[in-house]
Amino acid sequence: MCGIVGYIGNDDSKEILLKGLEKLEYRGYDSAGIAVMNENGVHVFKEKGRIADLRSIVKEDVLAKTGIGHTRWATHGVPSTENAHPHQSTSGRFTLVHNGVIENYELLKREYLKDVTFVSETDTEVIVQLIELFVNDGQEVLVAFRKTLTLLKGSYALALLDSQNNETIYVAKNKSPLLVGLGDSFNVVASDAMAMLQVTNQFVELIDKEVVIVTKDHVTIQNLNGETINRKPYTAELDESDIEKGTYPYYMLKEIDEQPLVTRKIIQMYQDEQGNLTIDPKIIKAMNETDRIYIIAAGTSYHAGLVGKQFIEKMAKIPVEVHVASEFSYNMPILSEKPLFIFITQSGETADSRSVLVQIKEMGHSSMTITNVQGSTLSREADYTLLLHAGPEIAVASTKAYTAQLAVIAILADVTAKSRNITVDFDLIHELGIVANAMEVLCDSKEELEHISREFLSVTRNCFFIGRSIDYYVGQEGALKLKEISYIQAEGFAGGELKHGTIALIEEGTPIIALATQESVNLSIRGNVKEVVARGAKPCIISMKGLEMDDDTFVIPEVHDLLTPLISVVPMQLLAYYAALHRDCDVDKPRNLAKSVTVE
Ligand code: G6P
Repeated sequence: MCGIVGYIGNDDSKEILLKGLEKLEYRGYDSAGIAVMNENGVHVFKEKGRIADLRSIVKEDVLAKTGIGHTRWATHGVPSTENAHPHQSTSGRFTLVHNGVIENYELLKREYLKDVTFVSETDTEVIVQLIELFVNDGQEVLVAFRKTLTLLKGSYALALLDSQNNETIYVAKNKSPLLVGLGDSFNVVASDAMAMLQVTNQFVELIDKEVVIVTKDHVTIQNLNGETINRKPYTAELDESDIEKGTYPYYMLKEIDEQPLVTRKIIQMYQDEQGNLTIDPKIIKAMNETDRIYIIAAGTSYHAGLVGKQFIEKMAKIPVEVHVASEFSYNMPILSEKPLFIFITQSGETADSRSVLVQIKEMGHSSMTITNVQGSTLSREADYTLLLHAGPEIAVASTKAYTAQLAVIAILADVTAKSRNITVDFDLIHELGIVANAMEVLCDSKEELEHISREFLSVTRNCFFIGRSIDYYVGQEGALKLKEISYIQAEGFAGGELKHGTIALIEEGTPIIALATQESVNLSIRGNVKEVVARGAKPCIISMKGLEMDDDTFVIPEVHDLLTPLISVVPMQLLAYYAALHRDCDVDKPRNLAKSVTVE
């Protein structure tokens, strides 16, 4: 949700900033801008659209060794050049990029900035104008910056240039992610490490309400009282090749194909020297001390939570509730005596989930984050973390993170069960190995799935997914994938529920994707298919080997029935991928979405 970068050093900053923004485009891509500063002052380039559009207007002959940049996902004001960042103060002295939302910006405008003419509709412009106001009142830049921060309510990651000092970038953060990267005679700023791997793999984490003064040779972290904080850098364990598309046309396809590998890596990462599955004993203790688990998540991670609940309840016998993060605070259930909160989040940055974490921490409850991003906000702030080891996921539509979440939760459930002397009647390592092989078979079935996608999804306006039991949750994820990237209106329903209303929408030829991977409900889901076929629907039945019937459209390989979501989701992902491709949609960067949603 907006990405920011900054560079200060001996090289021309433009290309480093633009390359960094390209890596951050997954965070927002409706407009972008950079500001670079040299002896002649600050030069701002902004454009509506993608980084490629921005690149085309950046003047090659402006050379500057200091700069900041931004890629936007609009919150306040439409995507436009005026609303694109960087924003400048009236005199042009201060230039700012911002990720986050300033909740009290209108109040601040009224209280402090009545005489200022604003050129954008953004909340950000208020920040840069306040800094100028306080500097005009005689305060030093750093003091004015800090004073402004104390007035802001909401979230921010900020990078500020002062045209009268081309040797410093001022940086601050609250709730929105931001890192400082260290180099030899240069330093950088970025919303995530991927953006600056091009120049460094040494990063320093920033904590909320810190202010950082970045020069080419020094990084000084201070709290809001101006006291210096020392923090050691860490090495980002990422490889630049992890974040390249290689020969793939889209990241999404690459990430779908990586699922067998990721599943095998997870088995390896969670195995001890004796070959047994293992999880940090502190986490297992927390699992055993709780009387009820509350899973909190959003989007695809929420769907992983729905399946994860089945794993934990069936294997470890601990009751689990699953909640949409953005609703939890308003509809908080009566909590059990010893709740354990599990936050499932690919990015570890989702603001809706984080706000629940803050709330339950204040209440004194235990928490754990299951995330793909080490050092992410939710990982840092929860008591415990389990990592997905899926490698960077760049396509907005989540694929490998979903299956990684399921694999990690299955392992958590298995290890917890064993610690409670509960017998799990299958060998999870063996079964996950079978899952990885089955994923491979499915990834090799692209041609067939492309054909099915063309037949069922190329012209339709809408599509319904049905399933019973655990298939229902996979259907919800299948529907989300399809709507996210192909813009086909899609919904996932419990097989028995469609007839209680939604069946009214079935017309001649409406596609119904029915999942039939569970023996216990195989006949009943097929009964539901008959009901919709009788009303004109066109059924696409995806079943599992051993349960298949004559009319089935696609049959997935057989895996343990509890683990079917890890593989039945793969055809869902590929059907959505090809539907988007056939409709000429931008698969990796669907309209209106962002991968990391850092506003509530
Ligand atoms: C956004 C993304 C979704 C993602 C959701 C939760 O809405 O577009 O793909 O599932 O956020 O993200 P998280 O990082 O918390 O899993």
